[in-house]
Formats: sequence, structure tokens, C-alpha cells
Amino acid sequence: MAKSKILITGGTGYIGSHTAVELINAGYEVEILDNLYNSKRNVIDKIAKITGVRPKFTEVDLMDLAALKRVFAEGEFATVMHFAGLKAVGESVEQPLKYYEINLEGTINLLKCMLEYGVHRLVFSSSATVYGDQPAPLNETMPTGSGISNPYGWTKWMIEQIIKDVCVAHPEFSATILRYFNPVGAHQSGLIGEDPNGRPNNLMPIIMKVAQGEIPELSIYGNDYDTPDGTCVRDYIHVVDLARGHVAALEDLRSGVKIYNLGTGKGASVLEMVKAFSQASGRPLPHKIVGRRAGDLAEVYADPKKAQAELGWKAKLDIDDMMKDTLNYLECQDAKE
Ligand code: NAD
Ligand code: UFG
Repeated sequence: MAKSKILITGGTGYIGSHTAVELINAGYEVEILDNLYNSKRNVIDKIAKITGVRPKFTEVDLMDLAALKRVFAEGEFATVMHFAGLKAVGESVEQPLKYYEINLEGTINLLKCMLEYGVHRLVFSSSATVYGDQPAPLNETMPTGSGISNPYGWTKWMIEQIIKDVCVAHPEFSATILRYFNPVGAHQSGLIGEDPNGRPNNLMPIIMKVAQGEIPELSIYGNDYDTPDGTCVRDYIHVVDLARGHVAALEDLRSGVKIYNLGTGKGASVLEMVKAFSQASGRPLPHKIVGRRAGDLAEVYADPKKAQAELGWKAKLDIDDMMKDTLNYLECQDAKE
């Protein structure tokens, strides 16, 4: 018997699709909503192939409040997991209004529907970017909102505040805010992984394009940071671990707002990631050092203890797993072509 129905916004996207798989595997009924701006409809077929269950899918834009209301009117959801939004940091600097409009208004529309239709449980995808430029390891008691370097990051910070305010005004509301560090990797089946529409911005999708020969070499943004090898350090987390963190958060939802880091607690440098990918693939990855990228911080990694203590969740997969599963996903993609 299915436990209870969960609406996943952005569920054909990278993290949402992996979370859908883990939720279905844990016995939940899942419904997916996405406008397919940065993902493809056939992700639903792949989720069905992995789990043996085809989630209901509706192509809806969160900006279309009337269409969103129809989804809620028919859905009888117990919980909403909210992944949908725009996430390209550089684009948000160039087009701030697009980011504020879609990420904020999309979330406000969603919250309006939740209140109107009596759905009071929310899990939201936030980001380590809300911590700004504080020294790592970052923990949930640290202040946020100072040193955020781009409009995308501000939308995450503002949405966190909006959710907190809704919980004050509506004590029946339960919300868990998850601050992700750097999700990478793919599902072990090789069927789903990171497959953004258009030119990628993040390290692993670019490494994948270099490995496929679509980009000649990786440009490493700076090797003069105050880190062990001079390149930036991040907390890379396997997307399947991250997805399982959502199941743990869901099972612990309680009234009011809870905030958790989802990271491994371990930093890896860009050069370490290049080396790990080369070792996994058995081939060198062409790369060169270029100047620093504006807004990059030297070292970002989580203190992950709170999620472990309160949710019983801990990342289990390591960088070798992240690389192996990324390569397997690439091979499965290549085999299809
Ligand atoms: P993604 O782009 O793969 O998934 C987001 C999905 O939302 C896409 O399928 C897109 O089509 C959909 N979408 C966008 N605008 C929409 C709208 N107006 N209406 C309906 N659907 C819409 O991104 P992801 O990596 O899976 O990220 C999921 C969430 O996690 C995002 O909120 C993102 O900001 C957050 N996050 C991601 C990272 C990361 O590095 N990937 C880090 C921290 C936080
Ligand atoms: N990098 C390169 N070359 C590239 C791309 C990235 O050297 O072509 C480096 C970056 O300088 C950085 C590291 O690889 O040091 C990771 O960069 P990403 O763009 O993959 O990720 P960021 O850490 O900059 O940002 C990510 C998400 C944001 C989120 C943030 C939270 O993209 O959404 O983590 O810490 F807000």
C-alpha cells in the first residue's frame, strides 16, 4: 500500500528525478510537475523503468496559478517537495529579474495553493550559497544572508524567509529546508543523471562534455587560492545520497521549520576531481588553469552532523562512486546514440 502522496515540483530535473526514485522505492506515491524548461519528458519513462512504477506527470509552469490550482484540486497531496526553479548562478547575474520573478513568484504560487488546498507539509531545496562567505565547515546555526554574491543565491535566502514567515502565520504548517552542497553523480542504473538543456555551468557537467569531446578542455578557475593545491574546494555529494536525505527529511517532518545541511563534510579540490575522473575513466582529462571566476569562494564544505543526529541520515557514497556512476551514465547515453 502506498504511504501517502507527494507532489514533486521540478521532478523531471536532476535532483527531483533521483528523489522521485528513492521515494517510490520507499513506498510513497509520487506525482510530478515540471514545465520542462531544463529537463525532458522521457525522464518519466526512466523513473518507471527503474522503479516499475510510472508517476503521474503534468506539464505545468509554477507561474500559471490557475493551472497549478487544477493540479492541487485533483491531487490530494500529503506533502510537497519543491525543486522547481532556475539555478544558473552566472545567468542570474545577467538576468536578475528573471530569477527573482520565477523563483520567488513560483514559490509564492505554490504556497498559495498549499494553503488553499490544505497541504501543510513542505520540503524545500535550498543551497549552501545562503551562508555567503563564512569559513567552512558551515553549520546551520551560522547567520545567513551576508556575502551572497549573486541573485540566484538571494532567491534561495528570500524563499527560506518566506517559508519561515508562512510557518509563523500558519502553525499547522511543517517545513524542512535542505541546504545542498554540490550534488554530482548519477543513478547506478545509468538511466538518469544530470542532463541540463543548453550549455552547462557546473563542474561535473562540463567535465562530462570534455570527456565526450564536446568541449576541448576544462578551464580550471584559478590555482592561487589558499587551499592545499590552490584550486577551490567544494563538498561534492552523490545525488543518490542527497535524494535519500529527502526521504529521511520527509519521515521526520514536524510542525515549524527545520533546516539541515545535506553534504558529506569532506572537501575536494577541482584538481582532485579531475584526477578522480581520470582515474575512473582510465584517460587523462584535458584541462588548463585560467583566471578566477567572479564570486567563487576558496573553500565550501558542510558540517553534516545535524542531519545525522536528527534525521539519521549520512552520505555513504564517496568520490569514486560519484565518478563511476557519472561514467556509467555517460556510457549509457552514448550507447543510445
Ligand atoms: P534542474 O534544473 O535539473 O531541475 C529543476 C527543474 O525545475 C527542471 O526540470 C526545470 O524544468 C523545472 N522548472 C524550472 N522552472 C520551472 C517553473 N517555473 N515551473 C515548473 N518547473 C520549472 O535543477 P536541479 O539541479 O535538479 O536542482 C533542483 C533544485 O535544487 C533547484 O531549486 C536548485 O536551485 C536547487 N539546488 C541545486 C544545486 C545543484 O548544484 N544542482 C545546489 C543547490 C540547490
Ligand atoms: N569550476 C571550474 N571550471 C568550470 C566550472 C567550475 O574550475 O568550468 C570550479 C569552480 O570554480 C568551483 C568548482 O569548480 O570551484 C565548483 O563549481 P560549480 O559551478 O560546479 O559549483 P559552485 O560551488 O560554484 O556552486 C554550486 C551550485 C550553486 C550552489 C552552490 C552552493 O552551482 O547552485 O554550489 O555551494 F549555490
